[in-house]
Order: sequence, then structure tokens, then C-alpha cells
Amino acid sequence: MADLDQLKTTLLAQIDDAGTPDAIEAIRVAALGKSGSVTGLLKTLGGMTPDERQAQGPRIHGLREAVTAALSEKKVALESVALDARLATERLDMTLPVDAPLMGTVHPVSQVMDELAEVFADMGFAVATGPEIEDDWHNFTALNIPETHPARAMHDTFYLAGEHERPMVLRTHTSPVQIRTMMAQKPPIRIIAPGRTYRSDSDATHTPMFHQVEGLVIDEGITLAHLKWTLETFLKAFFERDDVVLRLRPSYFPFTEPSAEVDVGYSVVKGKRVIGGSEGWMEVLGSGMVHPKVIAACGLDPTEWQGFAFGCGIDRLAMLKYGMDDLRAFFDGDIRWLKHYGFSALDVPTLSGGVGA
Ligand code: PHE
Repeated sequence: MADLDQLKTTLLAQIDDAGTPDAIEAIRVAALGKSGSVTGLLKTLGGMTPDERQAQGPRIHGLREAVTAALSEKKVALESVALDARLATERLDMTLPVDAPLMGTVHPVSQVMDELAEVFADMGFAVATGPEIEDDWHNFTALNIPETHPARAMHDTFYLAGEHERPMVLRTHTSPVQIRTMMAQKPPIRIIAPGRTYRSDSDATHTPMFHQVEGLVIDEGITLAHLKWTLETFLKAFFERDDVVLRLRPSYFPFTEPSAEVDVGYSVVKGKRVIGGSEGWMEVLGSGMVHPKVIAACGLDPTEWQGFAFGCGIDRLAMLKYGMDDLRAFFDGDIRWLKHYGFSALDVPTLSGGVGA
């Protein structure tokens, strides 16, 4: 069978000459495809006598194997040449200065989170975290919100589908981090917990995902006075003004007793609201003394340990401090908005240099 040897020589020479992955693929189809030349030879085996098949079978199969091996070898070689070429052209010189218009900015939410960490670190608070996918025990039950409690409905909770040991939710507030912290470490505790939270809600001032920061202090002899001092010190440092005035209004949260909502005073300057003074009031956070039941749920003795907690919307803080008026723009990813409201990555907030960057 001279034409078999001929075919083999031709095919191997073609493979050798092929310069691109596309050329390799074309040869593969022409030889091994449905109506390819080698496939055609394989089909002739069916019509042969047993003797012929015994002689020709190994030769034809050998041809197929040789062609297959040559194809894949050449393919690997071509790919490595292509990779080398790409690496040579796409090299980045990391020592070149950054082209300023291309440099990204720090999102106001990240900026405010950094500012909060800086302000609270100065008061001895550590930063704690918890999962965004929570079970309903940490998000509700341990916070003194039993199953039938209307507060569960109040939160417009996103529940996860499927069977779970405990129903799973996207955390509706950062308060479950209170529980996780009290269960994981011994008092005295001083933490803040910034992070993402979720509720099924959407308009100019609500987005389904938003950010909160939780604060928690557990120690002996903690009173409402410590809470008020901490919030006042925090808000003055954060807004960088000494004339920040707080107003505590009695309120209700299942996990604090007593509870207070906190407003900050604003003044109207050239028709705009500016934090400071007391011409009007804006609600900024919820707070209170940690409920004894919550302390007990975490395995601590509430006659020994007391504390306060607060929860505050970070997006709202950013809007108040930096003057944005539509929350939805925070999450549009519009490069023009980010350029306008974003912060330089090199401006790290520090108390000495000004937390406002
Ligand atoms: N978790 C409450 C909310 O999301 C805020 C809060 C936190 C209130 C801690 C009191 C104490 O509305």
C-alpha cells in the first residue's frame, strides 16, 4: 500500500509546515474528521477479508496514531510560541509612574469605613467582622427577636432558598456581629463592625444592599453616660466639628433596653444642610444598653457584665459628610461619579492629618 505511506508523508509534512492553530485544526479535520482521508481508510477495514484486515489494520491504525500525535505535539509547540510572543509584547514596566487620569479612586463608602476605623481605634475599639450570609439565630433569635416577633417582618428579610439546619438569611443588620463577638471573646469588649447588610427595599434613600457599622462595648459598670460620651466623641471626630449637637430620643429595639435613637443637629447654610448647630435634626443611628437577655444568650452573666451597642448607616454618614443626595448613585459604578466623589488612594485618613482626607 504505497499510497498509505504517501499519505503519511504528506500529512506529517503539512503538520510540520503549519504556522497557526487554525492551520493545525484544518489539517485535523481534513485527515481525522468525519470525511477525512485517514477516516476514509479506517472505513475500508469493514469490507476487507480477515487476512487483509490483519495485514492492513495495524498500518492504518498506526497512521492514525502518528498523525494524532504529530498534531498535538505541533499544537503545544505553537501555543508556547504564541504565549512567548504575548509575554514579550504585554510586558508592564512597574517602575513607570502611574498615568494620573487612569488612576482609580477610593469609593466614599470605603473611605468612610477607613475613617470610622481610625476614629474608633483612637478610643480603643478593634474592628470585628461576621458573615453576610447568617442563620436566623444570630440575626434574630439571640438578639431577643423570637420567631413570632413583628420585628422579623419589619426587616424585609431576604431568606435563602433550600433546606438548612437553621433558616439562612442575608443579614439585615450588623447586630449579629455583637453575638458572634460576645461568644468568641471574653469581656472587656470594645469593637466596631462595619459591613454590608441587606433588606428588600429600594428608593432614593434605600438600596437592597447597604452598609452599617455596629458598635459594642461590654464591661463592668457601663452606663448610658458612656454611650453618650462615645457617640459624641465619635460624631465630632467624624464630622470634624466641635459644634456637633446630639439629641437622644427614647426608642425601641428588642436587643437594647433602654433604647435611644440619636439625631444630630444641622444648620442651613446657603440653602444647604450642614452638620453642626441645632436648627434642625437628622436621625443618624440607633443605640441602647445591651439587653440582659442578649448577654445571657451569649453565655455571659448579665449581673456581672453590662454594655451598650449602636448601629449606624454608613452610606448615610457618607452622604451627610460629603454632600451626595441620591444613595442609588453609590452603587451604579459610574466612572464620572467616582471621579467626582472618590478619594485619592494615597490619602489615608489619620487623626493627625484629618480623617476627612
Ligand atoms: N440593628 C439596628 C438596626 O439595624 C440598629 C441598632 C444597633 C440599634 C445596635 C441598637 C443597638 O436598625
